[in-house]
Amino acid sequence: MIYRANIICTPTPERFKILEHGYVVVNDDGRIQGVYESLPDSFVSTPVTDFGDCLLIPAFCDMHVHAPQYRNLGLALDEELLPWLQKYTFPEEMKFSDIRYAERIYRRFVHELWMQGTMRSAVFATIHPQATDLLAALFEEAGMSAYVGLVAMNRNCPDQLTNTAEDACTYYQDAFQRQTDLVKPILTPRFIPACTPDMLSRIGQLAASSGMPVQSHLSENLSEVEWVQSLEVEASCYGDAYNRYGLFGQTPTLMAHCCYTDGEELRLLRDNGVFVVHCPTSNSNLASGMAPIRHFLNEGVKVALGTDVSAGHYLSMLRVIQYAIQISKLHYAQSRGKVKYLSLSEAFYLATKSGGAFFGKVGSFEPGYMFDALVVDDSYLNYDNYSLEHRIERYIYLGDDRDIRHRFCNGKELKEICYE
Ligand code: GUN
Ligand code: FE
Repeated sequence: MIYRANIICTPTPERFKILEHGYVVVNDDGRIQGVYESLPDSFVSTPVTDFGDCLLIPAFCDMHVHAPQYRNLGLALDEELLPWLQKYTFPEEMKFSDIRYAERIYRRFVHELWMQGTMRSAVFATIHPQATDLLAALFEEAGMSAYVGLVAMNRNCPDQLTNTAEDACTYYQDAFQRQTDLVKPILTPRFIPACTPDMLSRIGQLAASSGMPVQSHLSENLSEVEWVQSLEVEASCYGDAYNRYGLFGQTPTLMAHCCYTDGEELRLLRDNGVFVVHCPTSNSNLASGMAPIRHFLNEGVKVALGTDVSAGHYLSMLRVIQYAIQISKLHYAQSRGKVKYLSLSEAFYLATKSGGAFFGKVGSFEPGYMFDALVVDDSYLNYDNYSLEHRIERYIYLGDDRDIRHRFCNGKELKEICYE
């Protein structure tokens, strides 16, 4: 297939690569063959799908999101992390023992990810195997790619919301056997306070023997960090606690938040190749803190972005890009100009190519990359011959899902699946 449009992507964070009315040639396997300013002669007989004056951008990667918290979107944000979990989040997650309830909420969740142009995600489900399988099946049906994690948790949470290391590991192993190109399991110990040392070490052993990836939460909030220090007295820092259980980059690892990461923890992140998933909407809503993203980038730590719904109040990665930039500007001002803020292209890179790397060659328009793309019709914003640089900026700040005309994942166009 050949697509023609205004092509915009970030092969490197420093600047957008922009081709006005350029061409992307996509092979039958969904990988990009090449990106061209004008079409080479060898393709003249291949039909071209022309998207006119639309923008063609990489689809987004949401690298930290809780599907069972979807019903709580936009509410219950008057507490900090630990009371928020007990008061609002655990009671909602308990409902997912009812598969009919789970189906109703998960269908809406997957549909909205599709709407918002998020074609890849790393998702927390709940402790419930049946509901988690259903969520994985819904991604598969939609044609969207996801790492879906059954949550493992067995302390400091309500009895109805606990499983055992055995339950969780049996589930992960079965799901690993059934994984597909698009949808795969991910080991998901909720966070240190919710998992006993025995549970953590058994999940760590499974990571080592299977190679399965890991996702969890790290240094999100000060009370949480203190609590972990009292639970894991031998660890040099919160990150070291995960590391001692083999859950910190021994296999590909995503750690959400890292608002209070520095020193030894930062070195461990970098040396072990762990991704920090920055969730700026969540960190604002729960008054958690400002993650030192510029410091991470300077020190060579990998960074991706996540909505962290429902601590994050919106499922759109456009909003997360915006908040990441705005919070970095507050950080800049507070540091009296010492800490450089994120540029638009840097934040866009984090939401596309940087997070996409967790899935392989994803998130950019370059030879060998999977064609994950959004066709954006911004004509109502582009009423006065804006440059393409300004059009992508205006789309990020002012646009939304209504402007997306087509969505592609792995080279395939994904049509809307209507529910209810
Ligand atoms: N830490 C442990 N569980 C959660 C959760 O569900 N959301 C957030 N933001 N942090 C957590
Ligand atoms: Fe989270």
